[in-house]
Amino acid sequence: MYNFSFQNPVKLIMGKGTIATLSNEIPKDKSIMITFGGGSVKKNGVYDQVIKALQGYNTVEFWGIEPNPSIETLRKAIALGKEKKVDFLLAVGGGSVIDGTKLISAGLLYDGDAWDMVLAGKPAAGTVPLATVLTLPATGSEMNNGAVISSYEKKEKHAFFANYPVFSILDPEVTFTLPDHQIACGLADTFVHVMEQYMTTPGQSRLMDRWAESILQTLIEIAPKIRENKTDYQLMADFMLSATMALNGFIAMGVSQDWGTHMIGHELTALHGLSHGHTLAIVYPATLRVLKEDKAGKILQYAERVWQISTGSNEERINKAIAKTEEFFRSLGLTTRLNEEQIGEATINEIEKRFTERNVAYGENGKVTAAVARQILESCL
Ligand code: NZQ
Ligand code: ZN
Repeated sequence: MYNFSFQNPVKLIMGKGTIATLSNEIPKDKSIMITFGGGSVKKNGVYDQVIKALQGYNTVEFWGIEPNPSIETLRKAIALGKEKKVDFLLAVGGGSVIDGTKLISAGLLYDGDAWDMVLAGKPAAGTVPLATVLTLPATGSEMNNGAVISSYEKKEKHAFFANYPVFSILDPEVTFTLPDHQIACGLADTFVHVMEQYMTTPGQSRLMDRWAESILQTLIEIAPKIRENKTDYQLMADFMLSATMALNGFIAMGVSQDWGTHMIGHELTALHGLSHGHTLAIVYPATLRVLKEDKAGKILQYAERVWQISTGSNEERINKAIAKTEEFFRSLGLTTRLNEEQIGEATINEIEKRFTERNVAYGENGKVTAAVARQILESCL
């Protein structure tokens, strides 16, 4: 186990009817900007619940933060927030609304162009406090300090590390209206978040391993049941908490991490607009195929503990576990190959070029260079 320091300040408020408690958490004198996506919250009653809970507050609304939030839209939100002298932000939506709001919270205190901060990966001059009402289990953004911001003009997408929400409200009932594709992407994203922190080398921490495996097992158990009934409260509550726990730092204490699949996936979204979780379902099995020798020890542990594969040669067990992983993503209703999305060699060339120019190397050992990213992408054709 490596040395580490851990602090997660987010107050998690979970359960039926908890949106009504919003006013217990926000001081009355705050000038609040409430941020939203494209309107799903108007159809499922979340908007009405939030507005009712915030009666008497000074609020301004900002609508239209897109899936894969764009700097082009967020600049407008920052300008509005400055004009209205906003000093508290409430993001109501999925990871995109929350991530976008993290950039707004840094942008409100910065006089330059917010894209500078995205490229720098961090705020320039502090942040305004933000809180969230989560509507889509997937990213963990409700309990971490990460954000991923796109430029549609430049066809780029970059990670940005800012502030943790002060609190996040998670009412599983608000997920009942999620489209099947978003549920599939959320399950895949959660699964791969765990894998990015778990699938490295064995023997670093028994506790981290077992926490990670417990989330994977929970996802494998609930996914087919959610496909049958996506309005089952207990199932969606477990899904929601799994997604939060998968990327709030708890399973990463003292262990190495990978994140190569995410970095390749972000490029597929930037270039083709594929949903984030879907890109991971395509890239992750290929990452395992290409790096199976480096990751052999951990894949064998994963095979046995998560998929109960305990017979056959090491090579057979490893291949079976990789096949099981891809099957799991397909069972969610996602495609797992680039050619199924009409993506081919031109995109692979472009991603290899970008990674070469940026001189990056991802993965727990820095093995995922531009050349290895090419191999991974070729393995998902
Ligand atoms: O925009 P609205 O109308 O609200 O509709 C959204 C959107 O179209 C809809 N939706 C959300 N909640 C709903 C709902 N529809 C019906 N009922 C509900 N309850 O779902 C669509 C997708 O929403 P989005 O927020 O884009 O999805 P997600 O939560 O998967 O977020 C994806 C973004 O998060 C980033 C991704 O790269 C991507 O940009 N990530 C952020 C991370 C982080 N902050 O730590 C880590 C992740 O790895 C990821 O990279
Ligand atoms: Zn992700």
